[in-house]
Amino acid sequence: MGSSGDGSLASNDGTGKGEVFHKGVAISMWQNSGDDDSNWTNFIKSNFPFKALPFGFKRFSGKHSVLQTCPDTWNRYEEDVELAAKAGCNAFRLSIEWARIEPRKGEIDMDAVARYHAILDSMEAAGIEPNATLHHFTHPQWFEDLGGFEKAENIQHFVAWSLKAIELFGSRITFWATFNEPTCAMFLGWITGMHPPGKILACITAGKVVMHKLQAHCEAYEAIKRTAIGKSLQVGLVHHHITFLATGPRLLRGLAAYAADWMNYWWGYELIHQWMLTGKFTWKVPLLGQWLEWQHPGGKPPCDWFGVNYYSRSVVTWYMKPWCLPGEVMTDMYYPIYADGLYEALMQSNQYGIPIYITETGIADKSDKNRATMIDKYMRAMLRAIADGADVRGFYYWTLVDNFEWNAGYLMEFGLYAWQPDGSVDRKLKAGAKALVRFFKALPSNLSALRAAAARLVKEGELPDHEQMHAEAEEVLHDLTARGHKGRRRHGHAMVAAT
Ligand code: BGC
Repeated sequence: MGSSGDGSLASNDGTGKGEVFHKGVAISMWQNSGDDDSNWTNFIKSNFPFKALPFGFKRFSGKHSVLQTCPDTWNRYEEDVELAAKAGCNAFRLSIEWARIEPRKGEIDMDAVARYHAILDSMEAAGIEPNATLHHFTHPQWFEDLGGFEKAENIQHFVAWSLKAIELFGSRITFWATFNEPTCAMFLGWITGMHPPGKILACITAGKVVMHKLQAHCEAYEAIKRTAIGKSLQVGLVHHHITFLATGPRLLRGLAAYAADWMNYWWGYELIHQWMLTGKFTWKVPLLGQWLEWQHPGGKPPCDWFGVNYYSRSVVTWYMKPWCLPGEVMTDMYYPIYADGLYEALMQSNQYGIPIYITETGIADKSDKNRATMIDKYMRAMLRAIADGADVRGFYYWTLVDNFEWNAGYLMEFGLYAWQPDGSVDRKLKAGAKALVRFFKALPSNLSALRAAAARLVKEGELPDHEQMHAEAEEVLHDLTARGHKGRRRHGHAMVAAT
């Protein structure tokens, strides 16, 4: 597509050449389309501990898992890229699945490679910039069997995978992320056991896994930069920025605060914040104190851009019940809408001195009553951060179509477009999603123009109501709303039209 080779693109909004602000959607191919042999596929097939518990996987996921039915972007990519473009996107974040490309060690599946090229062709035709993630929680089972990121000696396999991906797709994709949310994967996989490998309170191993992923990020970054095209690529890291706030009756609040402090340190932001600023990784564990330490020899870690995945601030009680403060609105994901946290996350991330992309934000909202409010508030929080000097260069909504929310299955509905596993709804634009389309249509795509608009809007006080933002959006919305009822049937997947 129109990449200039230095990471900048020609603007698509008629304002001339310049860096483009990414208006995008984000997906992980596994959550949309499953696969045959990744760690996650095998985890779902296994009897991992939470599956058996009443609040475990089966209860969350209802009848179906991604292995039985899925929205299937893998086969329906043309439609999905078109839906993203119609919604006003000029960028699309997706995972390049290691388990699809290299299902057995050293064996490259050329059909999967060809499919990714076809997906990139569709994006190119639609004027959409791809943003690829090399590891979005999933990897091949053979890598898991070797011990995955628990073992330092396996880092070389990830570096080799990164180089293979660059060899296959580097001429077509400028923006790369090594990892999606190393701390989130660690917490859910090694502390709570809800993600693979399903370990509970394996606190020491958990630290090694994060450390090895951060080391793998640095090694992959440096190896990519040594390739012939490396310097023209933008290689970043994506972090889940969340904070935890203790609440509850005064006597028990101390316990909640103890838990919240650990959550902030491990998962939230402290560990990664320190590492991004200094290259120093320290792993502390309750009762045992500091356990691991590693300093990146170059000081600050190498990173061309920082991805902020932001959803909320979590309010916790002493017995870890998710809560919210009075006046806040809960989402279906056990945390509230909290826009100030996005502003804070962006201002804090700005200290790293590299461009920031909001690589994920969104809301699980089955009722669809709160989606427009969330989009409106988070978009304003981002514009406020930009006006205050944060170098934010993109906003990716999670996610395009309702998909499989890991251990929470199909019960969490984040999509801009509704999709139901029983086939009753297929890619129907949600009413609340229109707020995003209006923002995407109204805001300039040229980064300098967007910065100027943010400064003006914030200075003038209120941003215009998203309902009044852009007349052009109305036509598109009309078209999309009508289209969503039709659905399509392709590649043998049962996608029944809604009425
Ligand atoms: C992950 C996504 C997930 C989303 C919503 C992020 O932590 O990267 O894979 O679906 O949050 O929970």
